[in-house]
Amino acid sequence: MNDDDPVVCVCREVTEDAIVALIRAGHRSVAEIRAASGASGGCGGCADDIAELVEDEAGVSPSRLS
Ligand code: FES
Repeated sequence: MNDDDPVVCVCREVTEDAIVALIRAGHRSVAEIRAASGASGGCGGCADDIAELVEDEAGVSPSRLS
């Protein structure tokens, strides 16, 4: 476990750095990040956290609907 790179999606073991990298690669929604990494494809409890990362990194307001 790396404290500088927390796991955002526990179900799929996807870290914050991995999600930020996907956003920087052009993914702009929870659905796109789920398709690319599996994150939010389990319980869905991390979807809001992923949406916030998209907002923070990309400056857009993605659909929070999965
Ligand atoms: S924590 Fe991400 S789907 Fe469950």
